[in-house]
Amino acid sequence: MSSPSTPIYWDYLRLPQLLSLQGGLDGDERQLMPDELHFIVTHQVYELWFKLILVELRLARDHLAAPHVLEEHIPHVVHHLRRVNTIMALMVDQFGVMETLTPQDFLGFRTKLMPASGFQSFQMRELEILLGLDAEQRTDPEFGDPLEALRVFAQGSPGGALAMAHIDSAEAELSLLQALHTWLERTPIQGSGPDDPDDDEAVLGFVTDYLAAQTASHGSQGSRLVQVGALTKPAAVTRFASAEELSRAFLFATDVPPEDQTRTRRIRAAILFIESYRELPLLSWPRVLLDTVVELEERLVLFRTRHARMVERIIGRRIGTGGSAGVDYLDRTAQNRIFTGLWAVRTMLLPRRALPELKNRQVYGFAQ
Ligand code: HEM
Repeated sequence: MSSPSTPIYWDYLRLPQLLSLQGGLDGDERQLMPDELHFIVTHQVYELWFKLILVELRLARDHLAAPHVLEEHIPHVVHHLRRVNTIMALMVDQFGVMETLTPQDFLGFRTKLMPASGFQSFQMRELEILLGLDAEQRTDPEFGDPLEALRVFAQGSPGGALAMAHIDSAEAELSLLQALHTWLERTPIQGSGPDDPDDDEAVLGFVTDYLAAQTASHGSQGSRLVQVGALTKPAAVTRFASAEELSRAFLFATDVPPEDQTRTRRIRAAILFIESYRELPLLSWPRVLLDTVVELEERLVLFRTRHARMVERIIGRRIGTGGSAGVDYLDRTAQNRIFTGLWAVRTMLLPRRALPELKNRQVYGFAQ
């Protein structure tokens, strides 16, 4: 016979408790409408995945936020982020399960839900905040900041205190974006570190050489496009000149206040440097990390897009139970980008043969 401390499967996993939580507001599954159990279970599974994602994300962030991130610690960061990415891929697919709900069946209980909505998923908001999404992007031009709506609902709701504790905690923490920037800032660029004398000159030198190499590369691409008749000469000149202007503004960080320009320039140059010379031994884990972060954001965008298509299929373009414009709102959120530098650099990368010459190569070899 088993004692209360014997780890039986159902006790360890608290299955009696877990399986008693699908009764909706009345706490009684017999009161549910047809298909409502499907709706509740699917959402609960997502919330459990969010819970695990948040834990993994904090572990990754903590490794990355250390004052000195040893090379051998980067695989730990990547390990946790890869788990997040794998879960996210699953979550994207899981919308197929939700989609087995027909529009008519959903309409059978939709009014009963109002104003409940994924809008109030405090774990999803926590995830956005922990990743580093800024309030400006989160704020919808029509609906405003969904976090404000969440705060309003938190007052007087039984789960409100917990919801706000999650949000407040995330807002007080370092985001993955901030930790990534602090780590990137220390990347040696052409062999120069942030504490080296004349480091800013080294960074500016790299950026200037890169921009010159870009102009040369654009020149040959432009000639080719004109030669094959795809563009007129003036159109080619204008198009490439505007791309070069964008690269220049980004790499010289003219979009940030003057007091932040040196740091921002260093961070952006570091991304460009790692992506450009990604085969160097010392940069091999850093570039895997950057790839993993890009993949994370790509999957978040896919999550948003897939959710929006599922919503369009089930409720069309009507207003959401949370009060937003519905699909139009959701499609707008798919435009949000957190790791903007990682995306921006992709537009300006050059083929290997066109890269500026690498200086101080010995800095990037394997440790002896
Ligand atoms: C019948 C199924 C579903 C429908 C019709 C639906 C519909 C919507 C709509 C219209 C919104 C916009 C806010 C509003 O006005 O309510 C929304 C937001 C949201 N939904 Fe769903 N949803 C469904 C299932 C799910 C599932 C399974 C999840 C899984 C977690 C989910 C997560 C979210 C999240 C996180 C938001 C907030 C998005 C943001 O503000 O960025 N939804 N949903």
